[in-house]
Amino acid sequence: MKKIVFALICSAVSLSAMAGGNVANGKAVADKYSCFACHGKDYNTPIDPSYPKLAGQHKDYLVHALTAYKRGDGANGRSNAIMTGQVKPLSNQDIQDVAAYLHSLPGSLVNHR
Ligand code: HEC
Repeated sequence: MKKIVFALICSAVSLSAMAGGNVANGKAVADKYSCFACHGKDYNTPIDPSYPKLAGQHKDYLVHALTAYKRGDGANGRSNAIMTGQVKPLSNQDIQDVAAYLHSLPGSLVNHR
């Protein structure tokens, strides 16, 4: 019985790790699409003050924002000439992973417990 409970806990943990996004894959996605070119190499020093800092931002917020650019104009969407093009090649899993990566970086946007 103990073994079964342990196995259940382990599978629950690995499932939540998947839902949480893969940081290593997220870094690969961010590198591949050169997100740092605008948002800064540490994602904390954007090349223009009007460009948002991303390092440490809440993951669910980042997923929401990136998904909104994908939706485009309309309900719950965001329309931005620059970011609309950036999110086009990203799959939903890429979005989860890149959000997990950006959240994992040290930044001043949110307090980490
Ligand atoms: C050519 C410059 C450029 C590149 C490259 C770029 N971004 Fe952006 N990004 C912007 C700008 C400008 C905004 C602000 C857009 C707006 O006002 O909605 C933005 C906004 C965002 C936001 C919303 C932040 C918030 O606080 O609401 C996220 C998340 C984001 N970018 C992630 C990415 C990711 C991930 C990549 C790589 C796949 C990327 N960006 C590549 C310029 C860029």
